[in-house]
Amino acid sequence: MFDALSLAPEDPILGLAAAFNRDPSPAKINLAQGIYLDETGRTPTLACVRRAEELLLQAAPPKTYLPIDGSAKFNDAVADFVLGPALRAQLGPRVAVVQTPGGTGAVRLAAEIVHLLHGGATAWISNPTWPNHPNICRAAGLKPAEYRYFDAQTKRRDLDAVLATLATAARGDTVLLHGCCHNPTGDDPSESEWRTLLTAVQQRGLVPLFDSAYQGLARGPDLDAFPIRLAAEMGLSFLAAVSFSKNLGLYGERVGALLLVGADAEGVRRALSQAKAVVRTAWSSPSAHGARIAETVMTHAELRPLWLGELETMRLRLVQMRQDLVRLMTERGFGSAFAPLAEQHGMFALTELSGERARWLRQEHKLYLIESGRINVAGLNPRNQTAVADLFARALALG
Ligand SMILES: Cc1ncc(COP(=O)(O)O)c(C=O)c1O
Repeated sequence: MFDALSLAPEDPILGLAAAFNRDPSPAKINLAQGIYLDETGRTPTLACVRRAEELLLQAAPPKTYLPIDGSAKFNDAVADFVLGPALRAQLGPRVAVVQTPGGTGAVRLAAEIVHLLHGGATAWISNPTWPNHPNICRAAGLKPAEYRYFDAQTKRRDLDAVLATLATAARGDTVLLHGCCHNPTGDDPSESEWRTLLTAVQQRGLVPLFDSAYQGLARGPDLDAFPIRLAAEMGLSFLAAVSFSKNLGLYGERVGALLLVGADAEGVRRALSQAKAVVRTAWSSPSAHGARIAETVMTHAELRPLWLGELETMRLRLVQMRQDLVRLMTERGFGSAFAPLAEQHGMFALTELSGERARWLRQEHKLYLIESGRINVAGLNPRNQTAVADLFARALALG
């Protein structure tokens, strides 16, 4: 029966992760996958998470179903984390939160709601972007289209190009915006550019859909929420998908949320009811354990500061690895190609190590990166960074 199906393409990122895991070489280096690695090359379970799990083990909450929209305590803590307590209080019933399976579940749910609002609308997506974005939008019945975001020549964002494309968008189209730590470029709009961008979105009557998978890893948790908070302050109605995979290290626990922010309580009530109807037919209710960890950490008087300290340690390590790589590549004569990395944010950077160079690095030297040239800066550490820089220089010299 299944012969009637064609073979679906493997996910380019997860496929490489699997190949890395299969590779027996002790010298292998993983700059491919989108996970945080510490200076020892491991993905840590945060101390705040371990402490929260100890508390949960003692409390032994029942393993019954959560409500369709998830844990109220979790959703409450998420609204405060993303919007800040003051703005959140000011918005009152103009905000609703739905717990989702990771950020992916939140983006999918958001796309489903946009489809309910404006069936078959175009979803304007950054080029380049996380490869799952167009697929999710298509799966939800939207038409993916690209806005040019990055200038490969200058290796920086091109806001004029974004604005020029959005000027052609139709009212009711959605525009997918990376909240911070743009994936794959790491190049985020400045605060004044966000104001310009969101003003254009507002004037054209577009539906803003934020994807915020890295809050805390660019400039810190409050500054990283700037565009979402600005959108709320400007009176925009919008959707914001949030992930706790990276900033709490809860990847496999699948902890995320969708924020619905509207013009009034009635609109948000309707949106929430539709979101719950979608959830009921998709995953019925979200999983409990990861959300309980997250809500415990976010609301506990000692665990919250412990978390924020650990998050800052991760952030500062990414900054350090960026600065080190720029220095090492400058010493090897590739300063101008790598200089923007020091001003960009988060785990990812888009390099010229694409295509043939990426394949050469992987096949000949067990250095894994995505063929687009995206590297995960968190894969660098004091032990491997010189070897990586040497290999990068050799790959770039290949021509
Ligand atoms: C931009 C972006 N959005 C969403 C996600 C998905 O997050 P999650 O793993 O929580 O589903 C990722 C993960 O890599 C991402 O980079």
